[in-house]
Amino acid sequence: MSLTRRRLFQRLVTPDANQLNPEVVSDRGREARVGFAEQATPAGAKVVRISSNENPLGPGQHVLDALVGKFPEAGRYPFNATQHEGTLPAAIAAKFPGAKAENVVMGAGSGEILTNAVRAFTSAAKPLATPWPSFENPTDTARKIGTPVRQVKLTDRLQIDIEKTIDASKGAGLVFFCNPNNPTATVHGKATVADFVKRVRAASPDTIILIDEAYHDYVTDPNYSSAVDLALSTPNVFVTRTFSKAFGMAGLRIGYAIGHAPTIRRLNDFKLPYGIGTPHIAAMLAGLNNPAHIEQERKRNTDVKAFTLKAFADLGFTATDSQSNFIFVNLKRPAAPFRDACAAAGVLVGRDFPPYEKTHCRFSIGTMAEMQWAVDVFRKVLGTTTTTASKERRR
Ligand SMILES: Cc1ncc(COP(=O)(O)O)c(C=O)c1O
Repeated sequence: MSLTRRRLFQRLVTPDANQLNPEVVSDRGREARVGFAEQATPAGAKVVRISSNENPLGPGQHVLDALVGKFPEAGRYPFNATQHEGTLPAAIAAKFPGAKAENVVMGAGSGEILTNAVRAFTSAAKPLATPWPSFENPTDTARKIGTPVRQVKLTDRLQIDIEKTIDASKGAGLVFFCNPNNPTATVHGKATVADFVKRVRAASPDTIILIDEAYHDYVTDPNYSSAVDLALSTPNVFVTRTFSKAFGMAGLRIGYAIGHAPTIRRLNDFKLPYGIGTPHIAAMLAGLNNPAHIEQERKRNTDVKAFTLKAFADLGFTATDSQSNFIFVNLKRPAAPFRDACAAAGVLVGRDFPPYEKTHCRFSIGTMAEMQWAVDVFRKVLGTTTTTASKERRR
């Protein structure tokens, strides 16, 4: 590796996982500034961004090596590169028994696929059914194209309400099932998902079922397992996955859908041509072929999450059973003033998630050092901000 390339790496990666690297840290959480909530920070300020559910360490060295190694080919279109985009579906399919390239479609992030699914499968006459709150992309897309949206409230335990979602799916073009669900981090087990799919198909045979597994790699619940095998064998079902979370490549924009070939073909019709850059293709393949790195990331996340949940519990606040790299905490007060106070102290936390914005806040899991710093800030802010209950008592 040339000296120049090594210098580039030094700028890109945090040498010690437990060390705060302001350059890297402050480049994360774009979602908090663009598109969702503007959270301005003074230039050069040290900031912990735990607002966008990213992997705080970014990609591993093996991915960075592959990425930089392909920069010389960046002048080539992805279809002319030595590792071209057309080979990616087969590379993904090889990881799932029984899957073929025709079962996979790539996207510039799984977000592209969620958008395309709404465009492909819904219309003014064929609504979108979705739990609420859940990841907003399908709802936002549906509203833009004039598709009616049936939002289904979560249960009291902040889980997706299976019965009500099945009801809402009747006659819908698409049902969105986010597992684990963002922002609540709750998950449904394999048997429940299989039963849900069976019953939606019986109640509404033409409805397409989208199971979003963006946070699959972080789940530790033994009752959970992926629905990919179900999607491969069941018409009208597909799963979306992303390289943005455990793989640490949110900035590279790579995701995919996997499922029954005719459904995948319809998604292909809406696909952005050459949406994945030439060096990014190499990075994705390097990440895909290093499962040990993902295992390590899952363990790291589980440990730091336990520390963070305990810190909140010690302060008297409870969270849902998180099966992800973020936690949804009942702060017993509106999220907005809490978020502003944290931002003023350099810690950026999740956006509002109506109808829970008056009580709950979402926190992504950063590095241990980031969370230790963040917890100190939370302790101070929670000691000073006024709770809804105490405000009401004063009225
Ligand atoms: C549940 C869920 N699905 C999909 C996405 C989109 O991710 P990307 O477009 O980066 O793959 C996100 C992003 O936060 C998410 O939380």
